[in-house]
Amino acid sequence: MKASSATAFAHANIALAKYWGKADVEANLPAVPSLSMTLEALSTTTRVEFDAGLTEDSLTINGVVRSGEELRRAARLLDRVRLESQETRFARVESHNNFPTASGLASSASGFAALALAARQASGLGVDLGASSQTARAASASAARSVYGGYVVLPRAAERAERYLEAAAFPLTMLIAVVTQAQKPISSTRAMLVTAETSPYYSAWLEMAPHTYECIKAALGARDLDALGRAMEQSALAMHATMMASVPAILYFQEPTLALLRAVARLRESGIPAYYTMDAGPHVKVLTRPETAQRVASELGRVPGVEQVLSSALGSDARLVTS
Ligand code: DP6
Repeated sequence: MKASSATAFAHANIALAKYWGKADVEANLPAVPSLSMTLEALSTTTRVEFDAGLTEDSLTINGVVRSGEELRRAARLLDRVRLESQETRFARVESHNNFPTASGLASSASGFAALALAARQASGLGVDLGASSQTARAASASAARSVYGGYVVLPRAAERAERYLEAAAFPLTMLIAVVTQAQKPISSTRAMLVTAETSPYYSAWLEMAPHTYECIKAALGARDLDALGRAMEQSALAMHATMMASVPAILYFQEPTLALLRAVARLRESGIPAYYTMDAGPHVKVLTRPETAQRVASELGRVPGVEQVLSSALGSDARLVTS
């Protein structure tokens, strides 16, 4: 039997309204609604080849063979695609990120989105974006959002993400201040389970998150960057406050993280629109307008402990790559 292969491309995304917590752990359904911006500058290209000559699935990322949890998560996604398509062969997966994997920037969203598209196509299922979003979500919920370009929502307990606004509707810039990592932080999957089990503030988070999400949606609809930015900061801070109160505490911030938040506050005091958000790592992402991006990036780059500042416009839908 001939090997069947496909290659797909997907962008990373940053949540403006955060997903943290699961409505169903087994099915990996999110406990709160989230809304993200797809990032043009950060992407993953993944090739999947089902081959009767293989005795197990294999995975390389940027040319390095992966085993353990990384391989297991990819293999679980492939298992679901095999079940749906009746494909029986194992697969060879080769994935490339265009951004430094070692920097600790989350590559799972673009990675699982590209893998979902490529695996579905290679198995003969085809690349329906909605179905690919569902396949990606079962592996990692934030990856469901990377299937679409522009501004994307993943409603509470939803199987699939949906586009909320086209990129051109509100062209903003996201800057990513990459902070030197002292050690590999606890994974978001594990951290959100610990939060749900032990944080006294988890129920308050579940109660407030849908409201913040609605504020963010409304601000985007009104193209109101100030309202959007303030609600986005509240979403990130509330998520981090909730996990910090876990036992053991989950603290992703490092010294440069706080210094960056102060730098953003100073920029705002001087009249420049700049708003921060942070995920499961010490890096700070700053939302601004394209015309102020350079000024903001140079301020962020001056903060001690910042290795580099990446700049991104809004990205497009995930897609197949034809060779
Ligand atoms: C802080 O999507 O990595 O980035 O579904 O367990 O794989 P799993 O979690 P993951 O969590 C992302 C958390 C976040 C916020 C967000 O992207 O919404």
